[in-house]
Amino acid sequence: MRFEEINGNVFYNGDCITGARTHIPDGSVDLIITDPPYGINGDRLHHHYNRDERFVVGGYVEVPASDYGEFSLRWIREAERILRPGGSIYIVSGYTNLYHILYALRETCLREVNHIIWRYNFGVYTSRKYVSSHYHILFYEKPGGERTFNLESRYGVGEKGPDNGSLNYRDREDVWYINREYKPGQAKNKNELPTELLVKMIQYSSNEDDLVCDMFLGGFSTAKVAIGLNRRAIGFEVSGEVFDLKIAELRDTRPGYLLSTLRTPGTGEPVNQGRPWTDADRTTLVSRFTGLIASGETKKDAIATLGRELGRGRWAIEKMLKQQGVRPGARRGDET
Ligand SMILES: C[S@@+](CC[C@H](N)C(=O)[O-])C[C@H]1O[C@@H](n2cnc3c(N)ncnc32)[C@H](O)[C@@H]1O
Repeated sequence: MRFEEINGNVFYNGDCITGARTHIPDGSVDLIITDPPYGINGDRLHHHYNRDERFVVGGYVEVPASDYGEFSLRWIREAERILRPGGSIYIVSGYTNLYHILYALRETCLREVNHIIWRYNFGVYTSRKYVSSHYHILFYEKPGGERTFNLESRYGVGEKGPDNGSLNYRDREDVWYINREYKPGQAKNKNELPTELLVKMIQYSSNEDDLVCDMFLGGFSTAKVAIGLNRRAIGFEVSGEVFDLKIAELRDTRPGYLLSTLRTPGTGEPVNQGRPWTDADRTTLVSRFTGLIASGETKKDAIATLGRELGRGRWAIEKMLKQQGVRPGARRGDET
């Protein structure tokens, strides 16, 4: 099978089932992220997405719907074999053939962790039914080892949003609102997965230097993001046309190029917690609080705003307001 090696990452132009069997040892992969062909409408799949034909890469290889069940069983068995005990797999699937994938997963030792719904924009327009705008992401693990789940890789557990809700909790809910990428004028595989979606899965479920495999490379988006996050990448693409075009793009991908774009998770601790209040802090507190209340903010929101602005916790703000003689819920002029 033809292959290309780029900075130690290896990509094969061929069928992932025979390719994995020949080239990937048992238990050697830390994470699989993959988006198999959908088995719907053959090569007309892209018409669903209302795209400019000239920019959709030809040569995308579909699987006939009648073969989809057997095909799913075969590649998922290979995925099971190559994953290390404790390794994770994310499979992106539409709903039409989802039952085949769920059935195949049940035939393996792989265990469900989450069934995620990815809600995307640009759903297929309909006029006599609801608009379809989601995919399923099946997140499974291989039992027998410790699964990587980097709980605070994106948000500290104490970090709060503007509504005082936990950012970490929200990021880990199993419905993900992530937009597709629109890249006008660029050649792309039908159905390229957005970087943001891939970054999220890779951050939570792997560490630097881990091996990330994509059985169906398509636009090589999984490989590109994995390399961008300093992971090692491996994978298969059966179409020679897609493979040649995308491998050329991958040669320009700098390892770690995405690391500087990642958010640094906070501790959730207010930065000025425990620090003595100055006279200037107290004056700012009172004037900002009365100003916010006068402009119509609720007491709760005003306190949250001041907490962020002054780097103090909610209780510290409330206590100091009381000490300054400002009654909770007070309007301007009421505070003395
Ligand atoms: C849905 S696309 C993957 C899209 C990819 N995740 C991306 O973001 O660009 C599925 C890809 O699998 C390829 N494919 C189909 N059968 C295959 C097989 N048996 N082995 C490897 N690749 C295959 C198709 O040619 C297609 O490019």
